[in-house]
Amino acid sequence: MYAVSDILSLLLLLLLGISGEGQASPVSPRPNHLDARQSTPTTGKYCNPSTSICYLEYSWGPTIPVYRVAIPDSASSGAPFQTLLQIVAPASLGWAGFSWGGGMTLNPLTVVWPNGNTGVTVSSRWATGRTQPALYPSATYRTLSASRNATHWTVETVCTGCSKWSGSGSGGLNPSGVNTFAWAVSKTAVAQPASTASSFSIHDDVGMFSESLSLGKVPKATFDAYVNGGR
Ligand code: HEM
Ligand SMILES: *[C@@H]1O[C@H](CO)[C@@H](O)[C@H](O)[C@H]1NC(C)=O
Repeated sequence: MYAVSDILSLLLLLLLGISGEGQASPVSPRPNHLDARQSTPTTGKYCNPSTSICYLEYSWGPTIPVYRVAIPDSASSGAPFQTLLQIVAPASLGWAGFSWGGGMTLNPLTVVWPNGNTGVTVSSRWATGRTQPALYPSATYRTLSASRNATHWTVETVCTGCSKWSGSGSGGLNPSGVNTFAWAVSKTAVAQPASTASSFSIHDDVGMFSESLSLGKVPKATFDAYVNGGR
């Protein structure tokens, strides 16, 4: 006969075994994921004290880029609006991508990679399948700043055409509510760093997150002054 306590210990062992895979997170673990990130990603509001620009920020430890998104507070889902995207990537990455609609296919993709000593190339892409995304001329970018040092490369770019699209799902951003975004990264350098049309290899890691874009709302005048730089 088994004692009740034996059965309880067995149950406990089973439970420990099941949860031993690691902490639950919104992203399913990938066999080839990059190491040494904190166990769960975080989203929140980040304000740059020197520019007064506040962003919706996503981060997941030192091996995944920090992604920051800001929009003007005048934005409404009925009309297109400009979107500001900042990516701070660890130097080990060959490219980093951001999906405005939360998946690989049928939504605008921003793909960025280091170019030369200080530059970063921003490439507008669109994928209809899970293969090399095509160029996407319906979204255009203007890079506000880019830099590169021993530990990171970073770019801030303003997109015209990333807030609305013809594809799947919502077909556009909800400026006041929760949106689902996604990202992808690769450790492999792209083929032609100076060219926005360069080919690149498949990601080593991908993830998704959902958060309210209202965290990244900036007063329209502040937003316009920042992205248009007085123009
Ligand atoms: C050569 C380029 C690329 C190839 C061959 C490729 C291929 C694939 C494949 C096979 C999958 C499904 C298996 C998996 O989840 O790993 C996938 C998923 C995914 N890819 Fe890519 N990909 C490429 C570029 C990109 C880029 C540039 C982005 C984002 C900017 C991206 C974002 C995603 C995301 C978010 C997923 C998971 C969600 C989903 O399937 O929609 N991929 N990709
Ligand atoms: C390198 O660049 C990153 C991203 O801009 C920055 O956070 C970091 O402070 C820089 N490191 C040095 C030593 O300047």
